[in-house]
Amino acid sequence: MATSPDPSVFHRLDLADALTQALLTTAPASASSSGLFLAAPRRTGKSTFLREDLRPALEKAGALVVYADLWEDRKADPGQVIVNAVRAELLRHQGAIARLARAAGMDKVAVGGVSFSLDRVGLGQDVSLSTALAALSDESGKLIVLIIDEAQQAITSESGNDALFALKAARDELNSSRHHGLRVVATGSNQDKLAMLRNSREQAFFGAPLVPFQPLGKNYVDWFCAHVGLPARLDPDIVFDLFKRTSFRPEMIGAAADLLRFDFALAPADVPQRFAQAVEAQIAASDNEALRVVHSLTPLQSAVLRVLAAAQADYAPFEAETMARYQRVLDAVAPNAQVRADVSNVQQALGALQDKALVWRATRGVYALEDSSLASIMAATGLLDVAR
Ligand SMILES: Nc1ncnc2c1ncn2[C@@H]1O[C@H](COP(=O)(O)OP(=O)(O)OP(=O)(O)O)[C@@H](O)[C@H]1O
Ligand SMILES: [Mg+2]
Repeated sequence: MATSPDPSVFHRLDLADALTQALLTTAPASASSSGLFLAAPRRTGKSTFLREDLRPALEKAGALVVYADLWEDRKADPGQVIVNAVRAELLRHQGAIARLARAAGMDKVAVGGVSFSLDRVGLGQDVSLSTALAALSDESGKLIVLIIDEAQQAITSESGNDALFALKAARDELNSSRHHGLRVVATGSNQDKLAMLRNSREQAFFGAPLVPFQPLGKNYVDWFCAHVGLPARLDPDIVFDLFKRTSFRPEMIGAAADLLRFDFALAPADVPQRFAQAVEAQIAASDNEALRVVHSLTPLQSAVLRVLAAAQADYAPFEAETMARYQRVLDAVAPNAQVRADVSNVQQALGALQDKALVWRATRGVYALEDSSLASIMAATGLLDVAR
């Protein structure tokens, strides 16, 4: 599956190799055979790294990689996305399907056509994820690395939780001496959410190390400046400072460069200054976009969001003290509002905030901001002052 490297991507081969080594050489009894968590803020290049660097490095080292992106389709159930990723890999290994068919007592039936339906593989189906992954392991003779991008989505649905339990069983089975091993690499944008996945003894990730995924650094900015193709040179040191101001989001400096590229009247001497202005404008636009959604909320939704954002990990949605706080914020932001905060309408507001993709909810009722950077944007504009 060798693909030629994408010239629009800055590669981090050393990091990919280091992670690959760490994953492949783990002693089976150590906690990191549970896998690995990589946490980094939104839009900083996690998925790009997984796809462009880590996956090829793992494959080069002889592993079989199965990739499931739980955010690829916001509407798809996270558990089903994981099942589909395993099914898709099975399809590429007819021998593994033949094994499953034989195990299901279908040895006389031709394989590859109607005889064995992949629908039989899944959560609560007669062929479990563990059995399917074991067949892949035996057939390929390879260590399997399951990469789950945006893993925190798994605990937002029942079937996602089921998938995590199923993967725990699969991990125990495949890491036994009968097979060739299973590692799970999970990424997410929020450490607190990912931590919830590693705290339960019954789950696939129990005890898995949480590694802060380092953002793109100065060498990325050097590469960017060398390839940006503007009429004048950009100073990498200055651009690196700007890049830090964007919270290490490549899109921000990329979009700034695009703006300049289409400004045909731009004099070369003005390029550095205009670039800095364009980056600042991108940051402001991105913050404004986030705030636009906040300003479209009803007073109660706004109060609930502010209290959640101010409380962060201490947020207890329905405690008396929190209810009083919603009411205080409500009184401050909408003194004439008829509505009073009670358990039922706060629950409704939280539901609405979830629908607007502002709030994330784990199945056991823990709430958090979908994107934790929203809290600092709200704080910077004073929106949280009334909620403290
Ligand atoms: N190594 C890189 N070289 C060049 N551009 C990059 C690199 N990594 C990320 N980008 C760009 O940054 C943007 C965000 O990248 P990516 O989607 O990988 O981030 P993410 O952390 O997975 O984001 P999200 O939180 O939305 O899942 C994309 O437009 C991508 O092209
Ligand atoms: Mg991503």
